[in-house]
Amino acid sequence: MATNRTFTMIKPDAVRNGHIGAILKMINDGGFRIVAMKYTQLSIAQAGQFYAVHSARPFYGELTSFMSSGPIVAAILEKDNAVADFRTLIGATNPVEAAEGTIRKAYATSIGENAVHGSDSDENAEIEGNFFFSGLERF
Ligand code: CMP
Repeated sequence: MATNRTFTMIKPDAVRNGHIGAILKMINDGGFRIVAMKYTQLSIAQAGQFYAVHSARPFYGELTSFMSSGPIVAAILEKDNAVADFRTLIGATNPVEAAEGTIRKAYATSIGENAVHGSDSDENAEIEGNFFFSGLERF
């Protein structure tokens, strides 16, 4: 059964390009409630740990150096059917394939620098939220 929480990051490209506010507005307008949020920067080791599932991929080095290249906004979001609905809101991983009206269509520049992350399953939403937030940081 689907749970009602997902995890997101506004990635360093979108932060650098000044899109935090616009992306948070799309998240709010999409009906998501913010359960937890922080503005922080990952070390390369932390980015490697977060994306460990991709460690065998050829783009892993590029991914971890990009994700540690500047600050990010990490958040846990709540809504019915959160994981699937948020993936619809953010659009395809590759912005060339992202649908009109999605966050990646509006703000992503490439498959690597794609503005936002969204969990791909309820299980990963739980793991990823726990990576950034303690129980005391959730409301
Ligand atoms: P994300 O949803 O954060 O999950 C894994 C990330 O790996 C993905 O978004 C992309 O940013 C990145 N990624 C996936 N495929 C590639 C690729 N071919 N080249 C570079 N980065 C990629």
